[in-house]
Amino acid sequence: MPNLNENYLKLQENYLFSEIAHRVAAYTKQHPEKNVIRLGIGDVTRPLCQCAGEALLEGAKEMMSADTFKGYGPEQGYEDIRKAIVDYYKRSGVEIDASAVFVSDGAKSDTGNITDLFAHDNVILIPTPVYPVYVDSNVMCGNKVEYIEGNADNDFLPMPDWDQHADIIYICSPNNPTGACYNKSQLKEWVDYALKNQAVILFDAAYEAFVSDPELPRSIYAVEGAKQCAIEFCSLSKTAGFTGTRCGYTIVPQELVFTASAGEEMSLNAMWNRRQCTKYNGTSYIVQKAAAAVFSEEGIHQCQENLEYYRENARVITDTLSDLGIRFYGGVHSPYVWFECPKDMDSWTFFDYLLHEIQVVGTPGAGFGENGKRYFRLTSFGTYENTVEAMTRFQDLLETK
Ligand code: MLT
Repeated sequence: MPNLNENYLKLQENYLFSEIAHRVAAYTKQHPEKNVIRLGIGDVTRPLCQCAGEALLEGAKEMMSADTFKGYGPEQGYEDIRKAIVDYYKRSGVEIDASAVFVSDGAKSDTGNITDLFAHDNVILIPTPVYPVYVDSNVMCGNKVEYIEGNADNDFLPMPDWDQHADIIYICSPNNPTGACYNKSQLKEWVDYALKNQAVILFDAAYEAFVSDPELPRSIYAVEGAKQCAIEFCSLSKTAGFTGTRCGYTIVPQELVFTASAGEEMSLNAMWNRRQCTKYNGTSYIVQKAAAAVFSEEGIHQCQENLEYYRENARVITDTLSDLGIRFYGGVHSPYVWFECPKDMDSWTFFDYLLHEIQVVGTPGAGFGENGKRYFRLTSFGTYENTVEAMTRFQDLLETK
């Protein structure tokens, strides 16, 4: 019998969004006549933009002809898309080198897989509340985690404690689930702190496309010194509707070089490359072709139209919360709206209350960590009609009871 990885015993039985799906499936089985509106998991409803869809079809056609067929591609991604990503950064004034870009099947896998590069005795700081993959993937490999507190007092933007040492720091900005977004001087403080501690920041920028204020950084590399201390993860899931198509990218700058215990220099870029070449065979050609189209002038414009659609949904949600006098976070530079559960409920109780009373599904804040236990998240990724209907039901429920 094998010895099992008993770290799995330390995890919740189900991953957050599987637990939600499970509860919703049980409810709909009992009440098949009810119209359940899902504003829980951040899954998009707008289809792929025209130019991405066309590129996908063109890629499929190429795969059907011996002359243009492609087998295994480069594990790091095709040159065209790596260059398109470099150009995308350049548009917002950030210079990165194509050799730092690794195309993947999404930021979720990469933020989970990155633990492969680090030993298990690091001081790892993870905000609470935050995307649960960071904690779960560290628990799975036996790592101990320390939490940095996001709360109403710091507008869910925790800052470094200079008296505390850290080796690895997770930052998600705009934040999932709170929608809070660091400004440049706040990020600079994190970068300075990381440089002082010789720590690595794992910066999740999956929601960068939602930032509409040009003063707010969409990449950590907008901050001087970040290439010496940060890896950045990004995704086309929310930017371009790729939740089902799957494509993301991770930036591992060449500058990230540290000294191993016996004195040799180790490059995180070379290590990630080695890891990917061993465990990953590259993102499918047709998906990369569609992703490259997303970064074209036309693609960016078409994606912005979809983002505007979601921004309108976010306004519907935040207007309702304002009418009800419920304080909220996010919804501006983020597709998520985060608020304290009304009626002094904890978040799973509020989840069940909304599901049973008005058939609206949200995400309980407890799933994002201890500091989320009394909060709730709604997503603006639904259809406009469903969002309006959900918020009408929400307003009726909370006004009348
Ligand atoms: C979420 O709802 O938090 C996201 O959709 C999860 C993810 O991107 O994996």
